[in-house]
Amino acid sequence: MTAEAATTVTAATTVTALTTDRTPAGSTANPLVAATAAGHHRILTGDRPTGPLHLGHYFGTLRNRVELQSRGLELMIVIPDYQAITDRDRADRPAEHAEDLVLDYLAAGVDPERATIFTHSAVPALNQLLLPFLSLVSVAELSRNPTVKDEIAHSRQSAVSGLMFTYPVHQAADILFCKADLVPVGQDQLPHLEVTRTIARRFNDRYTTLFPEPQALLSRAPLLLGTDGGKMSKSRGNAVTLGATADETARLLRGAVTDPDRHITYDPEHRPGVSNLLLLTALCQDRDPHAVAAEIGNGGAALLKRTATEAVNEYFRPLRARRAELAADRTVLREVLHAGNARANAVADRTLTEVRAAMGTF
Ligand code: TRP
Repeated sequence: MTAEAATTVTAATTVTALTTDRTPAGSTANPLVAATAAGHHRILTGDRPTGPLHLGHYFGTLRNRVELQSRGLELMIVIPDYQAITDRDRADRPAEHAEDLVLDYLAAGVDPERATIFTHSAVPALNQLLLPFLSLVSVAELSRNPTVKDEIAHSRQSAVSGLMFTYPVHQAADILFCKADLVPVGQDQLPHLEVTRTIARRFNDRYTTLFPEPQALLSRAPLLLGTDGGKMSKSRGNAVTLGATADETARLLRGAVTDPDRHITYDPEHRPGVSNLLLLTALCQDRDPHAVAAEIGNGGAALLKRTATEAVNEYFRPLRARRAELAADRTVLREVLHAGNARANAVADRTLTEVRAAMGTF
């Protein structure tokens, strides 16, 4: 099977996105990642430094990144520290969170020798791209972005800052400064990808062809929910983090929302809590969630939770052991960021020089 182009329509945008193929729901067989790897060269993606990564990140994008890197694609990971101040007054310990992200990446199998992991506040030429890029989008386009609208609705601030409206343009600079052609992201990022593609197209039309129009890569693994049945989120206390201990995992999953029907079935629409635990187990064991349900049968929620806990702890044991080893010496994490920032600066300086030449500025 080859890469399949799926057209996803969001409120304001249409994006052609690639979808990684995971059918049945729990299967890790992923021929589309392989096919995608063939046509692309450089991946860029990133995570805000606001807290540790959780199982949703892992099955949603992290695993794909590692697989694409192992297939020879160049991997760039931005830690967008300026994006951490779009919806709050101050970022809480951004440098420490950035190091923790590096820890999660390395534990998950990202090879720091071949990947460039950087914080965008440390790459001035990348940030300067924001100025010409802002001239390429209208205020109306910026205010229609559905993800920004949603973030404004959930923001911790009483007023909406200019950065909140313009950060998708900044994100375009994150992606275009290194001319990435593939961006593994979650569904909520598609409007931003569309902004990036628009900016690339308009720059190329107005000046000189410099930028590829990058494609989004979506994971088709169904979204994992938090233990409270809502969106799994770093800040809602409903997520099992990659670095959680076996006991913490057990405690969190024991508290997961289920339902009173003892007969366990996979039915995401009507039984979201039960199905989420089945999906999690299936993802960890590379099985179909229906098969996991059949095995548990009339065992009820308690057996389901024990099964899910064992599956998670078993699957993540090697990752967590690596993570604990790496956490013992944080100088390594800082070195990875320093090296990544140096590499990103070299790339950004080159691109900014090209942009200046294309625009005829000094
Ligand atoms: N906006 C993304 C998020 O909130 C983070 C991000 C910043 C990003 N720059 C990026 C993702 C570039 C992909 C590509 O999670």
